[in-house]
Amino acid sequence: MNIVLTGFMASGKTQISKAIAAASKYKLIDTDDMIVEAAGKSINRIFSEDGETEFRLIERDAICRAAALDGYVIATGGGVPTNRANMDELRKNGIIVNLAPNFSVIQERLESARSSRPLLRNQSIDEIKKRFDDRKPFYEECDIKINIINGRTPHSYAIEILKAVESYIKTKR
Ligand code: S3P
Repeated sequence: MNIVLTGFMASGKTQISKAIAAASKYKLIDTDDMIVEAAGKSINRIFSEDGETEFRLIERDAICRAAALDGYVIATGGGVPTNRANMDELRKNGIIVNLAPNFSVIQERLESARSSRPLLRNQSIDEIKKRFDDRKPFYEECDIKINIINGRTPHSYAIEILKAVESYIKTKR
């Protein structure tokens, strides 16, 4: 069984997935890292040289490879849940957790989050907010929702998520 972390860009997936791996037996994999490795270039370069459509194809392949693993915490890119096929694949052997901050949390993290993310770079706050709102219905399809606020440690979220996953498994048995 895998724990899959989803959520908007800068919601904390990378840090929290590392904290889960440190606090448990789950091994760690990040689909953005798999994409960079497969393409041999950064996400910014994939978007600028090949376009978003090509990025989503490479992402789809990474999702299929990650979903076939077992015993992993899988950090995914923010756009993954917008493709139902990705979610179906990940759900076969995974519990899908959504990290859910209010937009104000994302806004506070924007300056440090922008440089490595083509969909935040050169975008106005209104455009980013629109994407945030458009993505909500997709994120709401997840199995477990975790409210994210500023000021809590990744470790505290890791503990919360591990407990929530445990009780989710019990209720589904
Ligand atoms: C994206 C999120 C990014 C990365 C790519 C596209 C998105 O991952 O996959 O820039 O569509 O939201 P993070 O959510 O880890 O920033």
